[in-house]
Amino acid sequence: MSEWTDIIDDVIDHVNLLKELGHRTAEVDAAVIAAWSAPAKRTARAPARQDSGGPASLPRQGYGEQAASAAVGSPKIADAQPEIIDPSAPALSPEERRRALAEIAERVDVCDNCPLRQNRNKSVPGQGNPDSPDVMFIGEAPGADEDLQGLAFVGAAGQLLTKMIAAMGYSRDEIFIANICKCRPPNNRTPQSDERQKCLPFLREQIRIIRPKTIVLLGGTAIRGLLDTQVGVTRLQGQWTQYDGIPVMPTYHPAYVLRFESQGDSKGLKAAKMQVWNALKLVLAYLGKSVPAPKAST
Ligand code: URA
Repeated sequence: MSEWTDIIDDVIDHVNLLKELGHRTAEVDAAVIAAWSAPAKRTARAPARQDSGGPASLPRQGYGEQAASAAVGSPKIADAQPEIIDPSAPALSPEERRRALAEIAERVDVCDNCPLRQNRNKSVPGQGNPDSPDVMFIGEAPGADEDLQGLAFVGAAGQLLTKMIAAMGYSRDEIFIANICKCRPPNNRTPQSDERQKCLPFLREQIRIIRPKTIVLLGGTAIRGLLDTQVGVTRLQGQWTQYDGIPVMPTYHPAYVLRFESQGDSKGLKAAKMQVWNALKLVLAYLGKSVPAPKAST
């Protein structure tokens, strides 16, 4: 998928969320309207989004290499429990797992398959509990803090993720955290389609080794990357799907939630947090865990 369609999908997701929050108007810069009104000079058009079907029509398994692009439709209420297709993956010993992940991290560190290598400081393979943790969180790509420390989700978005993890009753050491892309894109831009494709084999290998009980996908890039779908985060968030037999819960990226805070939109912030928390509660319910009593407001 081109970078253009990624951007258009993100805009559509954002407008859909604003609609869900009850917004009926949006401010648009006069210069943008003038540009839209000008005769079109574009030669290529992004593929049209389909209006029929829905997330339920996503393939139930086999996302990834063979995945078809998914139809776009009305989101359904997420009440279905995920169905595990292949619970009997070959189990590695803890020692074998650690060795296999360290070997992947070494390959990530010397990988020269895409231009992201050129500007980064440290590669960020991901970290946490590799022994079939209850949850593996997958984000987009490292930002500035992650790039300096070589650790996933340690900046502002990471702090919110840490709170989300704690609210679920876990510490960061008990779960695994990784990204679709292992190197920081310049200026934190969204990783491009070819960069995602080049990096994805590392993540797939990690998932095969770690065998998390569930996966939580954080944001549109993680969803597009792992599920290889064109359906946006707003439509998929809070609804079970699966990857390689592992139940997958897509939800919003913490940075997306934080944007409401920086814009002073407390209503939007509350609604976005609530949507993410509802998704995480579905994960806890699937895992048979009760929702911990809240300790402090976030
Ligand atoms: N955003 C991500 O998607 N991943 C990180 O590791 C940090 C910020």
